[in-house]
Amino acid sequence: MHAGLSARREDNLDMPSLLNDPKLEALLDRLHAQSDAQVDETDAYFARRAQEGSLDYENFCDDDMHDFLSDKMVALDRDKAEFCYQLCRSLRATRVVEAGTSCGVSTLYLAAAVRDNEVDNGVVIGTEHEPRKVEFACQNFRAAGLSEFIELREGDLRQTLQDIGGPVDFMLVDIWDVALPALDRVAPSLRPGAIVVCDNTTVDADEYRDYFEFVNHPSNRFCTMTVPLEGGFELTVRV
Ligand SMILES: C[S@@+](CC[C@H](N)C(=O)[O-])C[C@H]1O[C@@H](n2cnc3c(N)ncnc32)[C@H](O)[C@@H]1O
Repeated sequence: MHAGLSARREDNLDMPSLLNDPKLEALLDRLHAQSDAQVDETDAYFARRAQEGSLDYENFCDDDMHDFLSDKMVALDRDKAEFCYQLCRSLRATRVVEAGTSCGVSTLYLAAAVRDNEVDNGVVIGTEHEPRKVEFACQNFRAAGLSEFIELREGDLRQTLQDIGGPVDFMLVDIWDVALPALDRVAPSLRPGAIVVCDNTTVDADEYRDYFEFVNHPSNRFCTMTVPLEGGFELTVRV
């Protein structure tokens, strides 16, 4: 059993959701505000690159863009993160996978759900390839007191998600160009009834074409729908 669980059980009647904990709420407020503040800067960057005509749509994330984005949080919107929390509580999720951890904002919601589910050996497996973000994420996990529920795998998800080590109840795909490689690696571990959500799937239909082909292919055993949250939020159930 996780060290934090017995203490959690004593609190349980007072606070059925860790998201109502003032300390975690304050941390999330600060992180969401920090992420939101970077949005204008990011929009201005893309507008400038488009105006210069320097965007290469065949090799979209070039070195300059990679440098620019290497410290951008791009956190999941709060309503979507809370929605993920609710789904993980409903599933009584024990094992959760997150593709695209960045600085760990969505990870905190997932880990809070796993902790609140009071299951043994609950874990959120996150993955991130930017070392600066990994460092900041770990700092945030410690600040939230949730590190023991999170296994952050540093590196390219095409390697880090090869071995998931057990059945998965819930997966968040929050990544732009490698959504299908992420799902493809985790799909064999999804238990019947598991849910996979993927953010921003209607912003650029071409970008997610292969992802939609995969979740709609009958042999892959999914049913799927787009939840009309901003940018499209694909909710897929393993059947
Ligand atoms: C949209 S952000 C994730 C935001 C995060 N879920 C949150 O709410 O705070 C996507 C992240 O995926 C990371 N990423 C992109 N390609 C990756 C890859 N191939 N392997 C691992 N991480 C990757 C990026 O560095 C970026 O931080």
